[in-house]
Amino acid sequence: MTARDLEDRLAVACAIAREAGALAGEAFRGPQGRAHVFKGHQDYLSEIDAAVERLIRERLLAAFPKDSFFGEEAGGTFGRDVWVVDPIDGTANFARGIAHFCISIAFVRDEKTEVGVIYQPTMDELYAARRNGGASLNGRRMKVSGLTDIRQSTVEAGWSARLPPEPYVALVARLLAAGAQVRRTGSGALGLAYVADGRSDAYCELHINSWDALAGLLLIEEAGGWINDFLAGGGLQRGNALLGCTPALRDILAEAMDLRR
Ligand code: IPD
Repeated sequence: MTARDLEDRLAVACAIAREAGALAGEAFRGPQGRAHVFKGHQDYLSEIDAAVERLIRERLLAAFPKDSFFGEEAGGTFGRDVWVVDPIDGTANFARGIAHFCISIAFVRDEKTEVGVIYQPTMDELYAARRNGGASLNGRRMKVSGLTDIRQSTVEAGWSARLPPEPYVALVARLLAAGAQVRRTGSGALGLAYVADGRSDAYCELHINSWDALAGLLLIEEAGGWINDFLAGGGLQRGNALLGCTPALRDILAEAMDLRR
């Protein structure tokens, strides 16, 4: 696949993310904005999730009919060239009227993320990256913070009910003991995008799914940050532990997460 093919995919993904974001944003502000059910323990499904995913799927497969598609809500297949999509990341926020949510679209070839796009419609923020092409926010080049002192850092530590609470509590305790400020804002994809833009110094989670993570991880890499080998050992299908950070914090955070086990 040539750089030109990837440029095309990036441009199409950006346009689709904006269109999907407009649909999600309209639903968020509308009378049914908070309508939701639970798929499981603390696992929200908003009314608009499926419609946004359908739109993204239709548009992507119309533009690239040979690619495969996997979405959080309706699933799909993981082919050699696959789009991995979370139609609304931060669903719990969306469903409770909190505007911190986004669309996340990644293109993966041979288990390597080549394109990543995240769109936050209520702020009109479009994060975009292509491998070896840099990462941008609304066209402005992004860079990770470059911070070197953990005692000045802000680290986002994500959590989901897929894991028991004890390892999360222990991780947060280790981060606090190391001197980090710890936050959790409820969207893994945006948490990663914020690291790429230097708004946070790291994002970590003991287990997260590929549709939440891939676009944001590429943003961090292309913004000069460090990421763990998330796709190793079946991460695409099963998810994995995740750490993305400004480079100087890598060792101390990997140790806090026990990543070198
Ligand atoms: C969740 C969010 C959350 C993260 C979880 C994800 P969803 O995705 O990204 O911040 O901690 O691991 O499952 O349910 O909002 O699409």
